Amino acid sequence: MRKLTILILGGIFFLSCDATKKEAPRNKEEELVMYEFSEMALLMEEMCKTNEDLKKKIVNKEGIGEFSDKFLNIHSAVLTNPKDRDTSFEIFSKAFVENQQAIFLASPDEVKDQFNLMVNSCIACHKTTCSGPIPRIKKLLIK
Ligand code: HEC
Repeated sequence: MRKLTILILGGIFFLSCDATKKEAPRNKEEELVMYEFSEMALLMEEMCKTNEDLKKKIVNKEGIGEFSDKFLNIHSAVLTNPKDRDTSFEIFSKAFVENQQAIFLASPDEVKDQFNLMVNSCIACHKTTCSGPIPRIKKLLIK
């Protein structure tokens, strides 16, 4: 019974975006728990990956291609907690998408600063909704 409680608590931490969710499973039973990612969580993972690739291209001064429409899904993807999609979420997601788009319009001199602006708009929203992943998002910043 005690183990079950721990498992359930672990699941709640994970879903509520707590930093502890990135901890390694503490025992075999926990490893077996199947987590279900929300559409938004999956999109966020994809946005992380895409922007890690984009960062490499900017740092290596390679061509960066075009803005991907998949980022627009932030306006519709289903959240773990649908109540998180409030007015402030809409404002932050709009600012984020604009900053992401602007990277592809920036001059070579401005592209790094514009990329960092985009990363800061990820962080700005996360401060209001989901602070767990912030240390990971900060690693995207180009120094
Ligand atoms: C408008 C607000 C907002 C913006 C902008 C935003 N996020 Fe998120 N992010 C969230 C919310 C809310 C969740 C929780 C999603 C859920 O559980 O359904 C989340 C979840 C995540 C997660 C955890 C996903 C998981 O594994 O559970 C990561 C990583 C993440 N975001 C990275 C980013 C990155 C990188 C950016 C910018 C490229 C970004 N976010 C922009 C609100 C935002």
